Amino acid sequence: MIKKLFLCAIACITFTTATADEGMWLPSLIKERIKDMRKKGFKLNVDDIYSDKKASLKDAVVQFGGGCTGEFVSPEGLLLTNHHCGYSSIQKLSSVEHDYLTFGYWAKSRKEELPVPGLTVSLLVKMEDVTARLAAGEKKEDIIDEAIKQGKGYRASIEPMYYGNQQYLFVYCTYRDVRLVGAPPSSIGKFGGDTDNWIWPRHTGDFSVFRVYADANNEPAEYSEENVPYRPKRHFKVSTKGIEEGDFTMIYGFPGNTQEYITSSAVAYTQFHSNPMKIELRTKRLDIISEAQAKDAATRIAYAAKHANIANGWKKWQGESLGLEKLGTIGNKIGYETQFIRWVKDKPEYASLLDSMNVAYSNNTEGYFIRELFNESIGGIEIFNFALQLYNKAKTEDKVTADEQAEIRRKSLRGYRAGIDHSIARCMIDEFVKRMPKEKIPQELLIAIEEHGSAEALADNLFATTKLIKKYPLTKEEIMNDSFVKFAEWFIPIIEQNRQYAYRNLSNVPAIEKWYQPYMQALREWDKERAFYPDANFTLRVAYGKIAGYENADGEYHTFLTTLDGIMAKDNPKIYDYNIPQVLRNIYDKKDYGRWAIENNGKKTIPVCFLANNHTSGGNSGSPVINGKGELVGINFDRTWRSTMSDIEFDPTICRNISVDIRFVLFVMDRLGGASYLLEEMGIK
Ligand code: ARG
Ligand code: GLU
Repeated sequence: MIKKLFLCAIACITFTTATADEGMWLPSLIKERIKDMRKKGFKLNVDDIYSDKKASLKDAVVQFGGGCTGEFVSPEGLLLTNHHCGYSSIQKLSSVEHDYLTFGYWAKSRKEELPVPGLTVSLLVKMEDVTARLAAGEKKEDIIDEAIKQGKGYRASIEPMYYGNQQYLFVYCTYRDVRLVGAPPSSIGKFGGDTDNWIWPRHTGDFSVFRVYADANNEPAEYSEENVPYRPKRHFKVSTKGIEEGDFTMIYGFPGNTQEYITSSAVAYTQFHSNPMKIELRTKRLDIISEAQAKDAATRIAYAAKHANIANGWKKWQGESLGLEKLGTIGNKIGYETQFIRWVKDKPEYASLLDSMNVAYSNNTEGYFIRELFNESIGGIEIFNFALQLYNKAKTEDKVTADEQAEIRRKSLRGYRAGIDHSIARCMIDEFVKRMPKEKIPQELLIAIEEHGSAEALADNLFATTKLIKKYPLTKEEIMNDSFVKFAEWFIPIIEQNRQYAYRNLSNVPAIEKWYQPYMQALREWDKERAFYPDANFTLRVAYGKIAGYENADGEYHTFLTTLDGIMAKDNPKIYDYNIPQVLRNIYDKKDYGRWAIENNGKKTIPVCFLANNHTSGGNSGSPVINGKGELVGINFDRTWRSTMSDIEFDPTICRNISVDIRFVLFVMDRLGGASYLLEEMGIK
C-alpha cells in the first residue's frame, strides 16, 4: 500500500506537470505552444515557424537522405547537415587517390561540387489534418493522388498520429540532384569516434555541406550539367553571436521513433528483455571485431563502419536502460495506470482497456522477442545473409547470373573478413540456441549441432565446407547444395513467422497497437493537465527548450560548452579517434584564432559543442538549432547516452541533446577548409 502511494506520488509529479521542455510538436499546431515559447525567449510568430501560404522556417528545413535532417543556409541552396549523415555519400565519392573521408573535401567552385548519385533531399510542401476527410469517406489513395498532382517531384503520405486517432497528410517535394560541397576530415567530423559517441563532454565537428540543384524553373530534376542551384523560399540566417546558458533554443527536424505513451509492461519488455539481450549479443560481436581490428590496420578500416553501426545501438540501449532504471519509469507508469484504472471504473467503454492490452502483450511478446533475437544473433552472421539472398534468388529463378551474384556479394560482403565472421558464427549460433524457447529451434539445427558435437563445431564445419566465399560465380546447383545455404534454409520458417512481428516496436504490432487508439483517446479525456504530443514518426517536429548543463553525478556538473582546449587535451597521434589534423595543432600553438576567438572562463579559445534540453531523437541528426530570433546557432547531432530514455520518458533534469556550435563549423570551413567564399555566401562578413 505504502509502495503504491509512493509510486503514485512520483507519477503525479512526473506526468501531470506536463514537463516544461518536453515534447516534439507538430509545426502546423505550433499556435498551441507559442505562448510558452515566447515566455522562454522566442521572438518570432506562429507563421514564421510554419505556413503553407508564405515562406516560413519550415521551408529552410529538409529531410536529408531518408534518415536525417538538413537546413538551407543561403539563397542558393547551400545545405548543412551532420558529417555522419553525409558519411555514406562522402564514402561513395572517395577512392584511394581521393580519400575525402580521411582528408576532407572542399569544392573551390560550383564546378567542383560533386554529384552524389542516389542522394535525395525532401522539402515539406504542406501538412494537413485529414482525419475528418477520411471519416467522411474519402479514400487515402485519392487524397494522396490528388496531392501528388499539384507539383513536379511531389510525393505524399498519410501518417497516423496518436496511434491513429488523427491522420495527417504530408506532401513533400523531392530533389534528386544533390552535390557534395565540403566535408571536414574525419579527424574533425568524427573526432572521438565511437569512444565519445553518446558522450559529453564532446568535441566532434559533426557537419558536412551539400548543395541542392534544380532545373531552370527551380523544380526537381535528375542530375544534369544544366541544373542550377535551388533557390529555397527561406534559408537560415547564421548567427556568430554565440549562446549562453539559459538561452532559448529550438530544434526543427525529423525525429524517427519515440514511445512516450506505452504501458509499464512495454517498458519492462524494453528494459528487462529486449535491451539486455541486444546489448549482450552486440558486446560479443563487438569484442570479436575490435580484437581483429586491433591486430590489423586494414581490418580496422574495413570494419570501421560496421563497428560504428553495431556500437551505436549497443551504447544507446545501455544508456536507455540505465536512464529508465534511474528515473523509475516502470514504477511511474504503474502509478499512472493505477490512477487511470480508478478513473475508468465507471466508464464501460474504457474499463477493460488495460487488461486487454496486457493480454495482447502476453500473446505477442515472445514472437517479437524471437524476431529481435534472431536478427541480433543469426542475422549478425554476414555470410548467413549472403547465403539467404542467394537462396531466395536461386529458388525462384533458373539461374543466378554472375552479375546478380556480384551485386549480392558487393552489398552483403563488403570488406568481408571470413575470420571475423567465423568467430561471430561460432558464438552467435550458440547464443541463439541457448536463448530460444527449446521447441521453437529449427529441428535441423539441433540435429546438426548434435552431429558435430557443439554449435562451435558446426560453425567450423560450415566454414570449412562452404564454397560461397572462395568461388565465384557459382552454379545454381552449387548454390543450392552449399552448406551455408542449407543452414540458411533451416531458418526460413522462423523468418516467415517473424514477418508478422516486423514492426518498429513491440507496441506497434497490430494486435497490440489497436488498443492504443482507444487508450490514447481515454488518456486525453482523463489527463487534462498533460500536454500531449504525437510520438515521433519521421514527420517534421519542433522541439524547444534552452541551453543547459546538467548534474551528471553527485557533485559533478557538466557545463554546457566545450572548446578547442578540450580537443587539445584529447589529442593523441597514437589513438586513431583522437588524432587531429596538424593544422589545428599549429593554430592552437600560436593561439592564432583571429575572428573566431571567444573568451571562456577567462581563457581565449574556440567554441566546439554545446548542450541543450531539447527533446530530440534519432532522425534529428543534422537538425538546425535555432535561437530566439530564428537564427542558426548550431547543428544537432546526438544526445548524452543517459538521456536516450527520453524516447520513452523525458526527464528535463537529465535529458540533453548535443550540437556542434555553428562558430566551430565556420571556423573549420574558414581556417581548415579555406572555404571563406562559403562564409560569404552565408552572409558572414
Ligand atoms: N549517436 C549518434 C546517432 O545516433 C551519432 C552516430 C554516429 N557517430 C558514431 N560515432 N557512430 O546517430
Ligand atoms: N545521432 C542521431 C541521429 O542520427 C541523433 C541522436 C539521437 O538519437 O538523439 O539521428
